[in-house]
Amino acid sequence: MKLLAGNSNLPLAQAIATYLEVPLTNASVRRFADEEVFVEIHENVRGEDVFILQSTSSPCNDNLMELLICTDALRRASAKRITAVVPYFGYARQDRKPGPRTPISAKLVANLITTAGADRVLAVDLHAGQIQGFFDIPTDNLYAAPVMAADIQQHYAGQDLMVVSPDVGGVVRARALAKRLDDNAPLAIVDKRRDKPGQSEVMNIIGDVKGRACILIDDIIDSGGTLCNAAEALMAAGAASVTAYLTHGVLSGKAVERVAGSALKELVITDTILATESTKACDRIRVLSIAPLIGEAIRRIADESSVSSLFD
Ligand code: R5P
Repeated sequence: MKLLAGNSNLPLAQAIATYLEVPLTNASVRRFADEEVFVEIHENVRGEDVFILQSTSSPCNDNLMELLICTDALRRASAKRITAVVPYFGYARQDRKPGPRTPISAKLVANLITTAGADRVLAVDLHAGQIQGFFDIPTDNLYAAPVMAADIQQHYAGQDLMVVSPDVGGVVRARALAKRLDDNAPLAIVDKRRDKPGQSEVMNIIGDVKGRACILIDDIIDSGGTLCNAAEALMAAGAASVTAYLTHGVLSGKAVERVAGSALKELVITDTILATESTKACDRIRVLSIAPLIGEAIRRIADESSVSSLFD
């Protein structure tokens, strides 16, 4: 087995390599003077089972291009099997046409990865499970829920917990987390409604959150608007506290500042995306490592054993 890292998240790649006790492949993934990506693999990979570790996080186009060019380099170097390990799959939110004359970019990115030469894909908490079907190659979608559930048991055990989905679309994810917690924690949903065009959005809470320690769960925090507004609505409805667990800390623009000034007691994210300095400096944000989960999934793919049993 070989592990090749792009530049998107080297600490995560190193942590996966440490878990697997396999060194990162000696390669350079660099830029020409005009910013073109250039890849050179300095080891023989002929006949090898190679895993490329690269999130397509910001700068998403550059990181995507690195992934595609690494794949091409490996294919031309006669790797036996190439797995694109994409802990954060960018463009996933563009998984349908929101209006006429708009693209389905998630499908385009899936086509690009396949055309570049990937034989399989490994991702974490794809924005929508159906994105697996955008690939005509085997695609494993890992869930951060077991990592989050273990952390919740460690930090919030004994509290009157309620798992909350910040929107109707996230109910399946919230229910899966609730099932993993002791006593199968109850569920609430934040339902955002705008009754008439031009009226401001009203947040209705479905479920009684009074006195509860609420655990908001979502796949992505980008601007932070969804979560911070949901946290405010939950506190207004009488919640005792609100903590958020998110798989992908995109945290663009002023999101970190927004979290720091929000009603959230704590924001817990995973390391699928490299944390910025401002994220690291924010004492309201904690990062859990997903490296052992990804490392174990890679080991099982290489050994041709079950990946789904990781989530039993
Ligand atoms: C949307 O469907 C996603 O699950 C997230 O809720 C959304 O991407 C979060 O974005 P923001 O932090 O900008 O509100």
